[in-house]
Amino acid sequence: MASATLLKSSFLPKKSEWLNTRPLSSAQPMAVSFTVRAGAYTDELVKTAKTIASPGRGILAMDESNATCGKRLASIGLENTEANRQAYRTLLVTAPGLGQYISGAILFEETLYQSTTDGKKMVDVLVGQNIMPGIKVDKGLVPLAGSNDESWCQGLDGLASRCAAYYQQGARFAKWRAVVSIPNGPSALAVKEAAWGLARYAAIAQDNGLVPIVEPEILLDGDHGIERSFEVSQKVWAEVFFYMAENNVMYEGILLKPSMVTPGAECKERATPEQVAEYTLKLLHRRIPPSVPGIMFLSGGQSEVEATLNLNAMNQSPNPWHVSFSYARALQNTCLKTWGGRPENVKAAQDALLVRAKANSLAQLGKYIGEGESAEAKEGMYVKNYSY
Ligand code: 13P
Repeated sequence: MASATLLKSSFLPKKSEWLNTRPLSSAQPMAVSFTVRAGAYTDELVKTAKTIASPGRGILAMDESNATCGKRLASIGLENTEANRQAYRTLLVTAPGLGQYISGAILFEETLYQSTTDGKKMVDVLVGQNIMPGIKVDKGLVPLAGSNDESWCQGLDGLASRCAAYYQQGARFAKWRAVVSIPNGPSALAVKEAAWGLARYAAIAQDNGLVPIVEPEILLDGDHGIERSFEVSQKVWAEVFFYMAENNVMYEGILLKPSMVTPGAECKERATPEQVAEYTLKLLHRRIPPSVPGIMFLSGGQSEVEATLNLNAMNQSPNPWHVSFSYARALQNTCLKTWGGRPENVKAAQDALLVRAKANSLAQLGKYIGEGESAEAKEGMYVKNYSY
């Protein structure tokens, strides 16, 4: 008994030592202070995120940079001029009744400050359609020195003042896209850099009233199977949430834009929508707190129909988050081809956009039945080493 007491006490540090070695002790103030987020925009951010994540609605991503928009226009034989970009974006935002299916539209900076071809501000047209304007705020990808030929996303310098100006201009949410490549590793460095950049961006956007869409895109490139996508996705989302917590990001005021968990584009074994849904929902349950209001998937090169079927499969039973879409290619592809740059095709092109928007709206509600889809909508859009 005596020896037991001796043993115990000899292992217990004295109180003074204990205080010295416990940095979180209230008796010894820490060198760093904790911020409890109660920013000016807290309530508004929560409301914005909930509005975007409203039943049967998702996001139209129409934020292609001028370079990417140029590639789209070239595919229908048009020159990459401001007038052509304006004409195309006017067609998109004026599609009648679009707001029934679309709750937010992500714009490139040029469009945020642009007017439609008949002189109305694009932003006002969107608000008139009950669609929240959003803005791509990252400055694109550049090579990440010291990595395995991977990239990092630029744009943190001056971000706070840009976000404040975008808010003034009517934007209420933002997007930042970092990418992770499975065939190139991904290296621990690239994952950490992507996660840290997203977290800093998210904190800055929230400070300036914009709901951040957090998008670590795990590229489709590669011949890996679905298990490998799942493993990498788990790692990436763990780091993203770790750094968002460190940066005091308020989870109720963010939206996520993940890649669905699928096999690599060059993998011979394809996955059914049910398998994609099973892996993707497992990922979300393991990594995403239920306080996050909305999961708005990117399409990443899937065909229009594939992206809709996969989303529909994920909504066959209730989820803690709104599980929806934020597609660019999978909403716009048929629409763009139908337009072909011809004024007489505007109505048909808008109808094509509405077909996709409605199909994805139904998929958000788990009610898409996939009837009457065109062969075109079933064509994959994967492009190797695609740059956005
Ligand atoms: P896709 O749906 O074409 O992948 O684009 C979504 C997007 O906004 C990528 O950042």
